[in-house]
Amino acid sequence: MSLRAPTLLLTLLCLSSAISAAEFKDKDGKTLPPIPELVKLSGNADHGKQVYSTICFICHQINGAGIDFGPNLSEVGSRLTKDLLYQSVLEPSAVIAPGFDTVTLKLEDSMAMGIVASENDQEVVLKAMGGAKTTYKKADIVSRTKGTNSMMPVGQQAAMTTQDLVDLIEYLSSLKKK
Ligand code: HEC
Repeated sequence: MSLRAPTLLLTLLCLSSAISAAEFKDKDGKTLPPIPELVKLSGNADHGKQVYSTICFICHQINGAGIDFGPNLSEVGSRLTKDLLYQSVLEPSAVIAPGFDTVTLKLEDSMAMGIVASENDQEVVLKAMGGAKTTYKKADIVSRTKGTNSMMPVGQQAAMTTQDLVDLIEYLSSLKKK
């Protein structure tokens, strides 16, 4: 027997355990501590604001700045505790913010996917990534389905160091109702 088969088996075993343990790796390839440990770390909110401005503003608004696609985060610190903020970033599909489901419309000869921005008896307006809105006549919609996956991408922690992530969550949790 060649050495190949056992090596392959070992690789597969490692892969499957990584998936089942829901491990998250940061930018340096380091495994993040579990959320109950992360919430105990303290961060620098000013630096967290910079992290936010490089990767999150393309889909969220805070105090009028950024793109209007996902929920407005101006007062997210009053709405979500730190553990839920971590979960939102690490596992976006675990909880979908109310009204922000991924909706797919099947039309006569095309498909459309986005978040419902508004709707009335005749029309539904979908918001696409980037914030562009398109209006569809309900009469033209063949079927409409709600997905279980968030439109917020997974794996964003891989663009940050662990400290960047801790700083980011510190910043978001400081955004409270005035
Ligand atoms: C490609 C677009 C996109 C990007 C980039 C993105 N988000 Fe989101 N985000 C969404 C959408 C859509 C939702 C609503 C669905 C959901 O709850 O997962 C959301 C939800 C959230 C929520 C939950 C809000 C609530 O009111 O419950 C938080 C917190 C959040 N995002 C933070 C972030 C942070 C921090 C970043 C940057 C690391 C980020 N997002 C990057 C699209 C995005």
